[in-house]
Amino acid sequence: MQVHKNISLKKYNTFGIDVKAATFVEINSIGDLKNIISTHTDFFILSGGSNLLLTKDVEKLVIHLNIKGIDITKQDENHVYIKVNAGENWHEFVLWCIDHDFGGIENMSLIPGNVGTSPIQNIGAYGVELKDTMYELEALEIATGNLVSFSNASCSFGYRNSVFKNELKGKYIITNVTFKLTKKKHTLNSSYGAIQSELEKYNIENPTLKDISNVVIAIRQSKLPDPNKIGNSGSFFKNPVILKHQFRQLQHKFPEVPHYIVSDTEVKVPAGWLVEQCGFKGKRFGDAGVHKQQALVLVNYDNATGTEILSLSKKIQEAVLEKFHIQLEAEVNIL
Ligand code: EPU
Repeated sequence: MQVHKNISLKKYNTFGIDVKAATFVEINSIGDLKNIISTHTDFFILSGGSNLLLTKDVEKLVIHLNIKGIDITKQDENHVYIKVNAGENWHEFVLWCIDHDFGGIENMSLIPGNVGTSPIQNIGAYGVELKDTMYELEALEIATGNLVSFSNASCSFGYRNSVFKNELKGKYIITNVTFKLTKKKHTLNSSYGAIQSELEKYNIENPTLKDISNVVIAIRQSKLPDPNKIGNSGSFFKNPVILKHQFRQLQHKFPEVPHYIVSDTEVKVPAGWLVEQCGFKGKRFGDAGVHKQQALVLVNYDNATGTEILSLSKKIQEAVLEKFHIQLEAEVNIL
């Protein structure tokens, strides 16, 4: 366990915001994690820092979860169960699965962040969500220090949502996640428009897991900024889900509005479209900006502060509310 005093968190958050942590500990084992939470009451868990906007120095203890390890715990003819510790990098784990020909998460290639936080917001991309392959997870209950198992059903997954963002918020620390992946008979999900056209571009008729991963990487790289080059946290806002009758009014006024039917009563509208229609796409205010290829992504060109990014996000929310009567909700956690 390493303890640092007064260190910059710039390299620990993909937005690249330069705030300081008064005390920062790096945790490499569950034993260390249990010890530290039994002796501290006020702390902040920092994982991959990829879904986080830091707006001020952090006075409470910052616990950086860096527990590594990938284990195959069980397999049958067509499935493999893989237990992955929280500190593993998500994309490296996806590549490890593809190298071993384990299928199910290839559409989620290149999502930034670590495995331990992936269930909290039920990460997803190109028609696949974490909940589709997550078998179970283990989490440390902060109040008792006990390790508790959660089945897929008990995580109450929804669109970019889970029990860990709601009733159990701040009560547990996820220490490992087990995935149930396919070994041979893979069910590829290539129906998403952009995947189809990218496969056609390369004349790939019977894609492998690696092909799907490669095209997803190509699509993401063409639309989304690389956090190592331009600070960002992926989608800053969730795509709003609105009631059908409200959608009909919206469509009446803006017939071209893209949308996805969620249920008999609800429709999802892409936040990127709403933001673009309000004229923010590609706009820059000092070092804070809206990405030029994807209006859903706010960026830090260099030295923006968290407060500057936050005020840009508020300006966008106000404009979208005024023009479309839709309240955008941040997807990233704001601290
Ligand atoms: N659009 C615009 N302008 C923009 C961006 C998008 O008009 O600047 C419209 C386009 O019409 C497009 C539609 O929005 O057809 C949807 O865009 P896209 O397919 O790029 O996906 P998204 O809804 O913007 C979501 C996820 C992404 C994920 C992609 C692909 C959310 C909040 N975001 O974005 O997730 O990669 O789908 O599955 O659900 C993330 O969470 O960090 C993330 C990047």
